[in-house]
Amino acid sequence: MPTARPIPGPAPTADPAFAALKSRLVARTGHHYYADKDDLLWERVGRRMRVRGVPDPAGYLALLEESEAEWAALESEITIGETFFFRYAEQFAALRGTILPERIAARSNERRLRIWSAGCSTGPETHSVAIVLRELLGERLPDWRIGLTGTDINRDVLAVARRAVYGAWALRTLGPEERERYFRPGPREGTFALRPEYRGLARFEPQNLMSLLDGTASLALTDYDLILCRNVLIYFHPDVVQALVRALAQRLRPGGWLLLGHAEPNPAFAEFLEAVALPGTAAYRRPGEGAVPDLPPPARLDPVPDTVPGPEAAWAPLLPPESAAREVGAAPIRLRAPLAVPPSVPPAEGGPLAVVRALADAGDLEASWRACRAALAEAPTDPRLRYYEGLLARARARPDEAERAFRGALYLDKGFVMAHYHLGLTLVAAGRAEAGRRALANALRLAATLPADAALPEGDGLTAAELSGAARPLLGDEAA
Ligand SMILES: C[S@@+](CC[C@H](N)C(=O)[O-])C[C@H]1O[C@@H](n2cnc3c(N)ncnc32)[C@H](O)[C@@H]1O
Repeated sequence: MPTARPIPGPAPTADPAFAALKSRLVARTGHHYYADKDDLLWERVGRRMRVRGVPDPAGYLALLEESEAEWAALESEITIGETFFFRYAEQFAALRGTILPERIAARSNERRLRIWSAGCSTGPETHSVAIVLRELLGERLPDWRIGLTGTDINRDVLAVARRAVYGAWALRTLGPEERERYFRPGPREGTFALRPEYRGLARFEPQNLMSLLDGTASLALTDYDLILCRNVLIYFHPDVVQALVRALAQRLRPGGWLLLGHAEPNPAFAEFLEAVALPGTAAYRRPGEGAVPDLPPPARLDPVPDTVPGPEAAWAPLLPPESAAREVGAAPIRLRAPLAVPPSVPPAEGGPLAVVRALADAGDLEASWRACRAALAEAPTDPRLRYYEGLLARARARPDEAERAFRGALYLDKGFVMAHYHLGLTLVAAGRAEAGRRALANALRLAATLPADAALPEGDGLTAAELSGAARPLLGDEAA
């Protein structure tokens, strides 16, 4: 009889069944990420064990061996699905300005495009591509056959992707006008339903990327003009990443493009793909048909100060409301040095901050905002709460309040890298390029003092190297 073990508790690292369970899970999902995170894995596996009433790893492993449904439930439990619309503005600028126009021109005879968003989570990436495609093709769209497929190992997120109803947090990079253009009010207050003309373009299917390596992947996954596989490979072992990128490259048609997340490019991919520097980002391409269109010249650069602004800048007057966040996408060209960044988990938080975050993650921005304000009334000098106040103000399309809150956070902690970074993005999106670049330069300079793989406080797992990779293209030559 198995002995009941308290779950979660510390991971039973001495139990060979736990080790076997972990290695089966890593082999099946590719999530090498858990190799050195026994307690985190145990906490997540423990949730499933509790649901199924299984007391120990051996019993749970036996259950997995006989139940694909339990594997699917465990895969949903252990995957991390952070995503939002138009994530990485510079990549969407490259899609809009270079990659998709090039593909549309290259395929104009067949009028057919095949696009795969691999590891799509709840769908914002796939739907963002649908939006750009629809805008580019305009009235020509009905004449084209568009195969736009989002896949993910986690079946729960696919249900959300198909429904296409989101909280404001998933739309946090969109201004009010774009929100209005792409969404209508969702079924619950504070939710947004993607308009049917965009939603109808994508379909979603379960797929485990590891199947590309064991020969069980569908043969239909081929001949792609574009594959996006962003922020997925960071969880995999470098050898598996190399094999997967090779397999993805084989699924591209000649001239087809591959976009990876900011931390994922690697010079070793040059063995089978061509690296292409586009404004603010790197893309990969399978050699073949089609030319890279002319790129815009680098923008003028503003000087970057040597020091982080002091407290006197903290409550500066506020400026123009809306302007093109597009400017971010049009930033000067700078191909980042390839990065190899191990994944990291945000530190566990408790107290009011955890409530603020949980409410925002659940899409209830108003409640999160109220919780944040209440927490600030109790702890007005907590820079993290000021920072969340800024993020929430941005998500609620209040850039002036966001600026004030980020500056407040920096007044309290001038080494707060994420506050510099988001202040910079807020200012750039508001058309204040010079001030924005100064804040971004401060973020970059502070990040440079940290180990590349250090998870930044309040960065949701973003590492110092990833932040540098994201901020540097916005600074152009100054960030050398
Ligand atoms: C952090 S999200 C990235 C979402 C989106 N690509 C983006 O960049 O915003 C990573 C997604 O990869 C999925 N994923 C992880 N391992 C996978 C695998 N072996 N096969 C397919 N999808 C996987 C997760 O379920 C999760 O939804």
